[in-house]
Amino acid sequence: MTARTLSRVIDALPSSDGAGVRIKRSLGQSQFARMDPFLMLDEFRSDDAADYIGGFPSHPHRGFETVTYMLAGAMLHKDSLGNEGHLKAGDVQWMTAARGIVHSEMPQQEEGLMHGFQLWINLPAKEKMKTPRYQDIPSERITEVSEPGLALRVIAGTIERGGKRHEGPVSGITTEPTYLDVTLEANTPFIQSTPREHSGVIYVFAGEITVVGKTVKNGQAALLSEGDEVGVTAGAAGARFLMLTAKPINEPVVQHGPFVMNTREEIEQAVRDFQNGRFVSEAPVIS
Ligand code: CO
Repeated sequence: MTARTLSRVIDALPSSDGAGVRIKRSLGQSQFARMDPFLMLDEFRSDDAADYIGGFPSHPHRGFETVTYMLAGAMLHKDSLGNEGHLKAGDVQWMTAARGIVHSEMPQQEEGLMHGFQLWINLPAKEKMKTPRYQDIPSERITEVSEPGLALRVIAGTIERGGKRHEGPVSGITTEPTYLDVTLEANTPFIQSTPREHSGVIYVFAGEITVVGKTVKNGQAALLSEGDEVGVTAGAAGARFLMLTAKPINEPVVQHGPFVMNTREEIEQAVRDFQNGRFVSEAPVIS
């Protein structure tokens, strides 16, 4: 057994995206702050409507997946083909944009708390131009595990705890991601086995944790070394964090805003396709 250690801690930086939505970006704040295949991780959390009301009007994506996880509030997702999805607290939308989606993500509230995450996960070259797919996961379908001092939600992947397997609702993703939302009471330890060669990231959004003696605070992303397991202990005020693992793709990444391809030429093609209205050519698969 090799325990994962902390290889780097990234402070989430305040930023804005869409039409002035205030976010905190950890992964993806620069091209040096990624962990293959994870490209970007944004947290949005505000109870001031001015911080989120502009939403994310119509914009394209090509070459990767976007995962939206809502903890509070409501968001309407609409694509250029007329497909709609309503995201409310606890729901997930896993969108494999692949060859192209043009969509908007707009808040469905004018006051109150809006809290959630958007994660971008890369696709391997051979899947970047496939038919897009949505997996809309209502909160009730997310697998929940509870143990003394611990509550966790399995959004994607399969984990083992105490000899039992817990499978999340998201399936059919080549990078085999595991996406966990973990809540720990004060000073509670949490040990989770992980596929040894998968990239591992923890993002703390309440309290703090220690990983092999090092502290990771609220608003920090911890990049983990390779290993068969992760050992975390919550601080005196408890902790809540996302734990993400996935198989690295090990291919060149060329990003231009919402287009993530392998070469400059493919980016230029994406820009041309978008400008010429040839971006969305196939209806997505919805499951
Ligand atoms: Co988007």
